[in-house]
Amino acid sequence: MNIDGQAFRTIWLNEDGCTVEIIDQTRLPHLFEVVPLSGLEEAAHAIRAMLVRGAPLIGATAAYGMALAMREDASDAGIENAYQVLNATRPTAINLRWALDDMRGRLCGHPQDMRVEIAYARAAEVCDEDVAINSAIGDHGLELIRAAHENVSAGEPVNILTHCNAGWLATVDWGTALAPIYKAHDLGIPVHVWADETRPRNQGAALTAWELGKHGVSHAVITDNAGGHLMQHGLVDMCITGTDRTAASGDVANKIGTYLKALAARDNNIPFYVGLPSPTIDWTVSDGVREIPIEERDQNEVTHISGKASDGQIVSVQLTPDGSSAGNFAFDVTPARLVTGLITERGVCPASREGLAGLFPEWA
Ligand code: MRU
Repeated sequence: MNIDGQAFRTIWLNEDGCTVEIIDQTRLPHLFEVVPLSGLEEAAHAIRAMLVRGAPLIGATAAYGMALAMREDASDAGIENAYQVLNATRPTAINLRWALDDMRGRLCGHPQDMRVEIAYARAAEVCDEDVAINSAIGDHGLELIRAAHENVSAGEPVNILTHCNAGWLATVDWGTALAPIYKAHDLGIPVHVWADETRPRNQGAALTAWELGKHGVSHAVITDNAGGHLMQHGLVDMCITGTDRTAASGDVANKIGTYLKALAARDNNIPFYVGLPSPTIDWTVSDGVREIPIEERDQNEVTHISGKASDGQIVSVQLTPDGSSAGNFAFDVTPARLVTGLITERGVCPASREGLAGLFPEWA
């Protein structure tokens, strides 16, 4: 991604070769701040407090978190401690456990004095692999947008609804749901994105709108409840979302509210696609609704909202009456039957065990 003419990924190694750097996503869209991570606890905090978020970026940060941890304690106990600390940060995105299992597996077989080097090298590979996977998702999803473009009236854009932020900021680069959109836009296929604001943390309003704007993609932020209305009136040609964990059966866990969009899409015969990198598939889960753990976050995220005041200060204000409690369920699960197709790095498949097994026979 280019930010005002400068190429960025969302996570990278400082030229000192040790410090990891990230963009603090809690400050966007109003402030662009790079934050250094120097140790295990800083990496864990960055994931827990959502300075970094989005399933693939959580995985990449966890991989670098293991590398930082090896500098502090490269013993077997150090590996286990880092695994447990990082694994406890966020429960739903399976990329976290995927990256930690991968790192632990590679480190344990090597002598202690090699572990720092191995961990940094593998974390860099995890990042590069994520970029390649998402670029391939973009190529496959592009063909869906191209086909949709053939069905819209001449001169009209393809209207695509997305939920939360499954873009560049949620990954190391490109994004999952937004990768096909960037590729279509770059090829001159006109696209317009409806970005659900995504209460309570407003990833759509703050992050998706920001990165689409930086890339020059036409978009409008809509309230979370507007999608059904737009679909009924022919203003949505397709939906594309990301996922934090997809069951082997094709059930898709994603940001709270995704399920309602899939229901509305089905009622209006609008295709509902999910951008799915293979590290986001949980092959051990068959029934996503019952088995995928759903993160519950602080009530404060619902009772309060933050934004830029007229004097330019970032402020947080209370929305709810004093004393009202709030429920903050961060994800929901869309059953496979409501998903038109999964856009993976190996192609688009039906959201089913057979569909996934066809593309990833080595795992099924
Ligand atoms: O709570 P978040 O912001 O980490 O949730 C992010 C999402 O729900 C994304 O849609 C998902 O991680 C897919 S990212 C490519």
